[in-house]
Amino acid sequence: MAILLKFIKFKGKGCRLSRFLLMDATMTAQIIDGKALAEELRQSFKARVETLTAKGHKPGLVVILVGEDPASQVYVKNKVNGCLAIGMHSEKIVYEKDVAQQVVLDKIAELNADPAIHGILVQLPLPKHFDEEKVLEAISAEKDVDGFHAENVGALSQGAPRFIPCTPYGVMKMFEKGSVDLAGQEAVVIGRSNIVGKPMAMLLINAGATVTVCHSKTRDLKFHTQRADIVVAAVGKPKFVKGDMIKPGAVVIDVGINRLPDGKLCGDVDYADCLEVAGQITPVPGGVGPMTITMLLANTIEAAERKAGIR
Ligand code: GUN
Repeated sequence: MAILLKFIKFKGKGCRLSRFLLMDATMTAQIIDGKALAEELRQSFKARVETLTAKGHKPGLVVILVGEDPASQVYVKNKVNGCLAIGMHSEKIVYEKDVAQQVVLDKIAELNADPAIHGILVQLPLPKHFDEEKVLEAISAEKDVDGFHAENVGALSQGAPRFIPCTPYGVMKMFEKGSVDLAGQEAVVIGRSNIVGKPMAMLLINAGATVTVCHSKTRDLKFHTQRADIVVAAVGKPKFVKGDMIKPGAVVIDVGINRLPDGKLCGDVDYADCLEVAGQITPVPGGVGPMTITMLLANTIEAAERKAGIR
């Protein structure tokens, strides 16, 4: 309101004022607060963890990290701490970057057989000498809380998911929170990774959206994004999606987490630019990021509930 009054005082022109009012009333996106939603969900998980623990099935997650990638170290720490904070069991196993793949495969086999462990996650990316697919397939499908095992990918594509990959799962919860009705909507996913883009597209299809997946080979990205009701950006390029690429009123979900030279975090979406155009938008930080770990907790609790025969 302060800006509006200032505008009237200094400009005093009716036509300009009405334009400003229109923008003020319709063109500032509603923010979907992932941090608050994540906290709300994590609180709600506590009772489920208590019930499971009382029945002798305390949910347990093991996170395996190979190497010393600083970003991966932070993610792994947050995953383990997220579990501990709601009463779950969690531990990390760290290997040197030149560890033999077989050592990791043997550990996975041991964890597959451990009844106290319900979820196993191998942090990606793995060093170059690893066959990532082989490692992910070695995790028992029942403990694959990342949802990356071929059996779980297949179940998702058939519309009967068992474990939904955590980031797209978090995005779906954000749509729910923002009361976004996906059926019949035009959705554009930017990025085709196995971790985000592909499962995100599958979830949107399952929810009744008409989905276009764009990527580095897409000829005219703007053509696609400009006609989308929903844009999910997972490209890994800072501030890549600009306001003029977005249809007024669109829902814009930013999956990116990029570190700028000044140390600040930003997403794949130019937030300030898109805020004026989008109908709903997620911030970075405080958007999809906190939801990813939250849905990892959800998947691990679900795995324990299945094991306990509760689900
Ligand atoms: N690296 C970046 N995101 C993820 C994720 O969701 N799961 C795993 N395992 N590794 C990642």
